[in-house]
Amino acid sequence: MRLNCEIEKAETIKADLLVLPLFEGTKKLAGLAAALDKKLGGELAEAVAEEKVEGKEGESAAIKTRGRLAAGRVMLLGAGKKPFGPKSARRYAALAAAKARSVRAKNVAVVLPDAVEGGAPAVAVALGEGALLGDYRFLRYKGEEEKKRGETDLESLTVLAADKRQKEALRKGLDRGAIFARGAIFARDLVNEPASVTTPAHLADTAAKLAAAEPERLSVDILDKKKLEELGMGGLLAVAQGSDQPPYLFHLIYRPAKKAKKRIAIVGKGLTFDSGGLSLKPSEGMEDMKIDMSGAAAVLGLFSVIAELAPAVEVHGIAGLCENMPSGKAVRPGDVVKTMSGKTVEILNTDAEGRVTLADTLHFACGLEPDAVIDLATLTGACMIALGQEVAGLMSNSKPLAAKILAAADETGELLWTLPLVNEYRESLKSRVADLKNISGTRFGGAITAGLFLEEFVGRTPWAHLDIAGPAWAEKDAVPYQPVGATGYGVRAMLRLIERF
Ligand code: BES
Ligand code: MN
Ligand code: ZN
Repeated sequence: MRLNCEIEKAETIKADLLVLPLFEGTKKLAGLAAALDKKLGGELAEAVAEEKVEGKEGESAAIKTRGRLAAGRVMLLGAGKKPFGPKSARRYAALAAAKARSVRAKNVAVVLPDAVEGGAPAVAVALGEGALLGDYRFLRYKGEEEKKRGETDLESLTVLAADKRQKEALRKGLDRGAIFARGAIFARDLVNEPASVTTPAHLADTAAKLAAAEPERLSVDILDKKKLEELGMGGLLAVAQGSDQPPYLFHLIYRPAKKAKKRIAIVGKGLTFDSGGLSLKPSEGMEDMKIDMSGAAAVLGLFSVIAELAPAVEVHGIAGLCENMPSGKAVRPGDVVKTMSGKTVEILNTDAEGRVTLADTLHFACGLEPDAVIDLATLTGACMIALGQEVAGLMSNSKPLAAKILAAADETGELLWTLPLVNEYRESLKSRVADLKNISGTRFGGAITAGLFLEEFVGRTPWAHLDIAGPAWAEKDAVPYQPVGATGYGVRAMLRLIERF
């Protein structure tokens, strides 16, 4: 779908569908809606009354214009409560695109409210994001017909601008929003693919291709099993050893044109499939475990657009890639593995594998001496129990870093809540035979004890951990710009954070 911006009036814009916002509590059509209604012989007000539309988000009333306006149809779309800021705009654009699809409109024109909050540029970014993210579909394995319809049905979304100045601001914002959305969509595509496709080798290859496409700004190092052995990454190798798929680690680097003053590392959990290993998962929980590389996919998603965004900081993107499988070669409960840091870990539950791989990748990342390390990981079911399916858990050893992440995620509308790294729980990770064990021995506080485990491997580096087990995947169409499936959670927030860092 193309995103356009035009200086044009609602009466004269050519489109299959013209969408106007209707705010909650509107008793009587006013302003532009009233003016158009007059031209349409009061039919719009009639439709609103008939459909009992009150402006609640997502409600709509539409009529055919039969030549009285340049647009074929006009629709009043519930925009929820005022004020209309980026958060509303993201949802409004996604809903407008969905409504356009439902009436088979190829070209939709969107009117903005008279007053917007947060500035036109920020609203335009959100509009661009919402339209593209909401219209996303994963159709790769659908029949040709459905595929074609999905890809060509909605051709363009045009935002109406009042004048040249507004048009320029909107244009810039839409373009920026498109970059953010494309990053998230890149991640969604990878996560939605079955695990038989997105193997460790495939993700490593994807990283290599991204770097090759931007040779001036990006470089990459792909570490294979032999190299991982040389580095002593016993944690990552132990989790990988039960699978026929060999493990890899990708290390992407973005360098800005002007020498960077800051360096930031983003680490992703890259379990291409998590069966649980010998501590096998029950079948009900296993079918979703292709999403266990959502962290790595987010890193790839952000690197797919970072050169275009061109932030001023140096960014490293790292993920250890492997598959957690049971087999005669698999790591056993009771085994002790030595991580790259030198710390030993007693594996008591092979399903607590993410932290064992991250022990090595976090240690590797901290060795680059960055100003901050942030990991994104579908780490624990416990985090979903604590915060639900739409909110990620944030744990950090640095208050300023956590504050920056919270601010960035608030802007991009990615829900995030802080969990404490409770010192008192640290003891529960002590092992009788090794330096650490990989589970705490109680179900309680499972997201926190996992976070505490990771903290053992970051030393003094300012670090934050995002447990994205819940929001990486949308179970239902609850958020207009998040259709069922992979969400690309974290890509936009990390991009925003990097820009501001
Ligand atoms: N990948 C899972 C966590 C997960 C669960 C992600 C649901 C997405 C949706 C992780 O490797 C895992 O299995 N964690 C265990 C830890 C436990 C054994 C301490 C869990 O949460 O049950
Ligand atoms: Mn697991
Ligand atoms: Zn896992």
